Amino acid sequence: MIRILVVDDEELICNSLSLHLDESGFKVYKAYCYDEAIESLKENTIDIMITDLRLGSSDGIELVREALKINQNIVSIIMTGYGTFEKAFEAGKLGVFYFITKPFSMEQVDTVIKKVVNEINMKEENTELKKIINERFEFSNIIGKSAQMKKIFETIEKVCILDVTVLITGESGTGKEIVANAIHFNSKRKDFPFVKVNCSALPDALLESELFGVEKGAFTGADKSRKGRFEMAESGSILLDEIGDMELNLQAKLLRVLQNKTIEPLGSTKSININTRVIASTNQDLVEQIKQGKFREDLYFRLNVVNIKLPPLREKKEDIMLLAEHFLEKYNSEFGKSVKGFKKEVIDKFANYNWPGNVRELENVVQHAVIFAEEDKLSLKDLPDSMFSGNIAIISGTRSLEEIEKQHILNILSEYGHNISQAAKILGIDRKTLYNKMKKYGLSERQRQ
Ligand SMILES: Nc1ncnc2c1ncn2[C@@H]1O[C@H](COP(=O)(O)OP(=O)(O)OP(=O)(O)O)[C@@H](O)[C@H]1O
Ligand SMILES: [Mg+2]
Repeated sequence: MIRILVVDDEELICNSLSLHLDESGFKVYKAYCYDEAIESLKENTIDIMITDLRLGSSDGIELVREALKINQNIVSIIMTGYGTFEKAFEAGKLGVFYFITKPFSMEQVDTVIKKVVNEINMKEENTELKKIINERFEFSNIIGKSAQMKKIFETIEKVCILDVTVLITGESGTGKEIVANAIHFNSKRKDFPFVKVNCSALPDALLESELFGVEKGAFTGADKSRKGRFEMAESGSILLDEIGDMELNLQAKLLRVLQNKTIEPLGSTKSININTRVIASTNQDLVEQIKQGKFREDLYFRLNVVNIKLPPLREKKEDIMLLAEHFLEKYNSEFGKSVKGFKKEVIDKFANYNWPGNVRELENVVQHAVIFAEEDKLSLKDLPDSMFSGNIAIISGTRSLEEIEKQHILNILSEYGHNISQAAKILGIDRKTLYNKMKKYGLSERQRQ
């Protein structure tokens, strides 16, 4: 409730104005002089003060000045008589823009009060908005409030100022590239190039020349010298993306480059010094790759000075809706839509879904839903079919066939409300086979995902 202090040494005016405001639903305090007003201001949190310009031996302007010292958010309204323009001007300098000229009607008072109340509400909304923006849990556009992400923010903050090599690992779509961006763009190298190379996109021979450059005449067709990406990233950083896919031979060469801090372009005998910070990323399990002889252990230790391991989305559930809201805002403005939020059914689906494609998949899902949304809030029918197809386990890698089968059966069962006949039909097996499989995997008829 808005609290108003009425100050006037003319008791009749003070009382009648107070009564009117009280009847209009405000909490009203009265003061008949300067001192009483100060006392009331100190005791109560006043939102609006209406004061006469003349208060016996003191004046209203002085009171406004003191009131602001007590509470800087207070909005003052000054009641003035004729010929007090100069005083009004002085009041303006204190931020008083509301005046009521005596004699006045209660309607005039209501009009001014309405304006002031609007102003107060708007101010509150703005501070709320600012709060929301500040609490956005953002770091270089990386969003997250989960314990895992907070730790990652801390690590990024620590490593970005140092020149150490960082290895970023995590499933596809977990945000490895935006973390790499955050590291580079918060480092002292930020004004120099950030060069990215996708190590799985090029055949090995090409990747080598791409990384280290080519000397003119190095091979048939090399009619010009070409700078390598390492050289292009001079004084900046280089991201070796999908490093797990680099072939062993090239891994050995890369190791030498990292050790010596020099490169030799293909077909060249001279080496070039490089000053480039290396960030590597992969969605592969490099330790496993080492065991299988596919990745060099010595290179792994060179790269893994600091490891940032991004958790899959299903393991940081508290970030799901935060990210979803962020993407909703993004696609609302991109498509000129004004979807207000998510229905409970969608929030539940998001919480229970496996997110094999992680944050990228969440972004795609929200984008899709915003495009198809017809109501105020996103509902299940706005989500893409892929979220209901149940081929989750197949994408998420390293599981055995049996695990995939079990998960698939579970998905289908939950999708069809545990209706065995229907589920069996969809799975292309008879009911008996389905029962047997459920028994084998220890699935009860009502087991949930
Ligand atoms: N924490 C996050 N906050 C905001 N956006 C995110 C976050 N994590 C990922 N994204 C967004 O998700 C998408 C995928 O992220 P990114 O490309 O960094 O993933 P990745 O791990 O490199 O994936 P891949 O292994 O497939 O290359 C991007 O559009 C990115 O902006
Ligand atoms: Mg990537």
